[in-house]
Amino acid sequence: MKPVDLLNVLVKNQNVLFMNKINFLTVVGTLCIAPLALAEAVDLTKLPPASSKPNVTFAGDIKPIFEKSCIKCHSEQKPKGKLRLDTLENVMKGGGDGKVVRPGSSDKSVLIVDVARIGDEEDWMPPKNNKAHIPALTKDEVGLIRAWIDQGAK
Ligand code: HEC
Repeated sequence: MKPVDLLNVLVKNQNVLFMNKINFLTVVGTLCIAPLALAEAVDLTKLPPASSKPNVTFAGDIKPIFEKSCIKCHSEQKPKGKLRLDTLENVMKGGGDGKVVRPGSSDKSVLIVDVARIGDEEDWMPPKNNKAHIPALTKDEVGLIRAWIDQGAK
C-alpha cells in the first residue's frame, strides 16, 4: 500500500467514526427531546374552565376532594410519587419530580393536567383502572381546584 492510499483509508475511517458520533448524538438528542415533545403535546384548551367561586381555600374546598379521591395513595409513610396531599404544606412541597402546584397558574400545574386527564394516560390521576375503584374527578371538581390555584393556592 502506498502512503497516499494509507492516508485515504485513514481519512475514510475518520469519516466513519465521525458519522457514528453524529448518529450517536442524534439518537441521544432525540431521546432527550422526546419527553419534552410529549409534554408539549398536552392540549391545554381541553382543561375544564376554572370555577368562578371566590375565596376558594384548601381547608374549605379542596381538602374534601383530595380526601375522597387522592388520600388513599397520597398520605402517610410511603405516598405514591412521594407526594402527600393531606395538608396544604405537603401539597405545596410537591413530589418526587418537584412541585405539582404553581400558585396563580393552574394551567401550568402538573396536578391539574393529571386530574383533568388530558395528558399521557400514565399520568392520569386517580390512575386509570386503579384497584380502589376511585373514579375520575368531575369537571366541576377540576374547575374548583383550578380556581383555588389561580387564586394563589391558600
Ligand atoms: C390508586 C392510587 C392513587 C390515587 C387514588 C391517586 N394517585 Fe396520584 N399517584 C399515584 C401513583 C402510583 C403515582 C406515581 C406515578 C409515577 O411515579 O409514575 C402518583 C403520582 C401523582 C402525581 C405526580 C407526582 C410527581 O411528583 O410527579 C400527582 C400530581 C398526583 N399523583 C396527584 C393525584 C391527585 C390530585 C389525586 C386525587 C384526585 C391522586 N393523585 C390520586 C397513585 C394514585
